Amino acid sequence: MGTGIILCNLLIMLLLSPLILHFSNLCIASDHHDQLVKQKGGCNLYEGKWVYDESYPIYDSFKCPFIRKEFHCLKYGRSDLRFLKYRWQPNHCDLPRFDGVDFLRMQKGKKIMFIGDSISLNQWQSLTCLLYTAVHGSNVTQKSDASNSAVIFQDYGVSVIYFPSHYLVDIQMEEFGRVLKLNSLKSGDTWKQADVLIFNTWLWWYRRGPKQPWDYVEDDGIILEDMDRMVAFHKALITWVKWVETEVDRDKTKVFFRGMSPSHYHGNAWNEPGVRNCSKETTPIDIDDGSEFAFGFGAPPLEGEILKQVLSSSKNNVHLLDIMNMSQLRKDGHPSTNNGYKGMDCTHWCVAGVPDTWNQLVYAQLLMIQQDELLANATIKYNY
Ligand SMILES: *[C@@H]1O[C@H](CO)[C@@H](O)[C@H](O)[C@H]1NC(C)=O
Ligand SMILES: *[C@@H]1O[C@H](CO)[C@@H](O)[C@H](O)[C@H]1NC(C)=O
Ligand SMILES: *[C@@H]1O[C@H](CO)[C@@H](O)[C@H](O)[C@H]1NC(C)=O
Ligand SMILES: *[C@@H]1O[C@H](CO)[C@@H](O)[C@H](O)[C@H]1NC(C)=O
Repeated sequence: MGTGIILCNLLIMLLLSPLILHFSNLCIASDHHDQLVKQKGGCNLYEGKWVYDESYPIYDSFKCPFIRKEFHCLKYGRSDLRFLKYRWQPNHCDLPRFDGVDFLRMQKGKKIMFIGDSISLNQWQSLTCLLYTAVHGSNVTQKSDASNSAVIFQDYGVSVIYFPSHYLVDIQMEEFGRVLKLNSLKSGDTWKQADVLIFNTWLWWYRRGPKQPWDYVEDDGIILEDMDRMVAFHKALITWVKWVETEVDRDKTKVFFRGMSPSHYHGNAWNEPGVRNCSKETTPIDIDDGSEFAFGFGAPPLEGEILKQVLSSSKNNVHLLDIMNMSQLRKDGHPSTNNGYKGMDCTHWCVAGVPDTWNQLVYAQLLMIQQDELLANATIKYNY
């Protein structure tokens, strides 16, 4: 008998009849929660390894109609399929397998919004596929407007939304040019209406030249041509975290920040110094084979430190999806040239693929939050 069942029985004993119905939901769901209860004992979900699992992938990408040509690797010629068969195994607990129907029931009537760059788009696509393939035949509609795209699971009232934002803070057109405003965050009023927010920003902070979508940067009312990009990133995160603290209703809205998603253009990160792209990679980096490999190629590890520092300074519970290390191991997870553009892409990820695990982690975190709330609610109600 798992800890979840014991917990459940204990609750039933504590509770009198009016609420048994309410709590029977917890008991049914507790199959999923079982392994997670152990997590409270200090298991870090983000420390672990990739294990080969014949029962993966969770869905067939050809059954998902939403996948853009950037990410649909199988459709654009990828023929090695082993990369789909890895499951993330934390060192000291198990992740629940993603259950799309359970996810939709748990989030009934709610809005889940991804906010960030194209890696957020990547993760959004993965979640829409995980859910769509779980409720085949159910009423699912799509809606896009100038600011966002949504897939709506009508039978559950669940909207899964992508809101593009390179920097989270604003870029505004002034007479003299485009200004990146480190202290301004104007889209927040739209974001805070959602029930689950999953933020990210990183990819664009070091872009220069024609790929840089601003001409000036503004900090504290002062306009500059440029500034240290890591400092700018830090300042923008502070603006964002202040917004979370002052504007987001923490009883309603759960806030996540997804850590940096690594690229694989430098073979010295996996002991093959001559390699300059991911085109030949078909297996994850094996950390058990004793080979040395370095984290953080393509971005200084400072990014993660700044992020953790800013998040820990926040009184408002922001859950860090600390996916950088696990994703760093997945040199095999990128489209390479198997995309609708035929360009080499070792930055984004195939769908199905690695972002499914990121969403599995969101699911696990939401289950844990729900469990905490149920327990807290029970304690409040019976504490007389
Ligand atoms: C990721 O790797 C860094 C550097 O090796 C380490 O300090 C950190 O604890 C790791 N984080 C996780 C979640 O494994
Ligand atoms: C799906 O849901 C939408 C919005 O509620 C509704 O307008 C539409 O008729 C539904 N379609 C089907 C096939 O039930
Ligand atoms: C990718 O790397 C291979 C060798 O690892 C090389 O032959 C090929 O030209 C590279 N392709 C691109 C587009 O960089
Ligand atoms: C806990 O109670 C609050 C306030 O009544 C409610 O909004 C919330 O949905 C409850 N949480 C769960 C998981 O039932």
